[in-house]
Amino acid sequence: MEKIQQRQSSGGAVRVAALLSLMVLFACKPEAPVGPEDKKIYTPVSTLRGEAPFPVGTAVQSGRIDQSSYANLINKEFSSITAEYEMKQDVIHMGPGSYEWGSSDAIVDFGVKNSIRVHGHALLWHSSAPAWFDTYSGDNAAFEQMMKTYIQTVVTRYKGKVASWDVVNEAFEDGSGAYRNTIYYQKMGPDYIAKCFQWAHEADPDALLFYNDYGAEYDNSKRKAIVEMIEDLKARGIPIHGFGFQMHINYNWPSLSELTKALDALKATGLKIHFSELDVRMNPANDLTSFTEARALAQEERYREIVTLYKTLPAEQQFGITLWGIKDNESWLLNFWGNPEWPLLFDSDFRYKIAHRGMVEGL
Ligand code: G3I
Repeated sequence: MEKIQQRQSSGGAVRVAALLSLMVLFACKPEAPVGPEDKKIYTPVSTLRGEAPFPVGTAVQSGRIDQSSYANLINKEFSSITAEYEMKQDVIHMGPGSYEWGSSDAIVDFGVKNSIRVHGHALLWHSSAPAWFDTYSGDNAAFEQMMKTYIQTVVTRYKGKVASWDVVNEAFEDGSGAYRNTIYYQKMGPDYIAKCFQWAHEADPDALLFYNDYGAEYDNSKRKAIVEMIEDLKARGIPIHGFGFQMHINYNWPSLSELTKALDALKATGLKIHFSELDVRMNPANDLTSFTEARALAQEERYREIVTLYKTLPAEQQFGITLWGIKDNESWLLNFWGNPEWPLLFDSDFRYKIAHRGMVEGL
């Protein structure tokens, strides 16, 4: 009996040892999935534009939308597009009275042809002020007239094709809420913002006009300055219709409570709200060299959370959510921060990341 027990127990010991070694093997399994199943991607059963009660858009570039891989995905998933850089002043405004329309026309024509809303970005932004401004010899009055002519030339050209415009982008300093001392501020004075909105409205009274910025999500002083500017423009009857939160956020920052506080503050203005450049940094601490399943799950939850928050807006204030790009490997964040990054909904092979599922489930 004893022997049998010993055999049994020794056989049992062997089984326990085998089980333990299997447990150790799987407990130490590498982050990356073992075998063909990759839980960082999935097969969608619905589309963003099909599920969303508001436009969901993406940033685009003219050199990509003429490729079927991009065009097909954009038409399938998105109902709005924003030019990532080709409708900015440094691309269009070649000199006084001189314009280059090739790439901006290509993007607008793509939207019109595919019945996709086109959001114009951005009429004035200090970072896309043309280099020739540095050698411009006209006085301030001449510069202001040139800006008026530029804005009204662009807006008139796309009247009836571009539904909305970021009229001014990023006019306030970080951390203080002071006006940035941009060339526009220097030459046109602090009321340049009101002038730009007025000029754009005169050119296309039907276009929705936005002020766009980053930092309102978490910078109290900048957000306060933005709200005060909006309320001032409204009080003066200056046509402003919306605010764009750029929403360049991290998977773990700002907190949902911080974002809720920020959204409440801008919601209170009554303006339409655009999450205008959404991407979710997954490697802000540069602690990853490859995108892990755990981090992919965190991203899925973050996108779900952001969409759920956006849907708390009244329907009439929901202008939409725009992703700042399609594929991870094309994100501006890679060059800007220099870290490996996976901020968007599609991987470098156009595969659907579970972040897409999170966004769809939040809609
Ligand atoms: O595509 C051309 C390429 O053909 C050329 O060889 C190369 C060198 O000249 O330039 C390439 O274009 C660059 C483009 O990004 C595409 O990579 C432009 O020079 C470069 O200026 C452009 O940068 C854009 C940046 O705004 C400035 O316009 C980024 O794509 C874009 O993501 C970024 O977006 C901004 C928003 O407009 C405002 N909020 C912040 C956000 C990030 O900076």
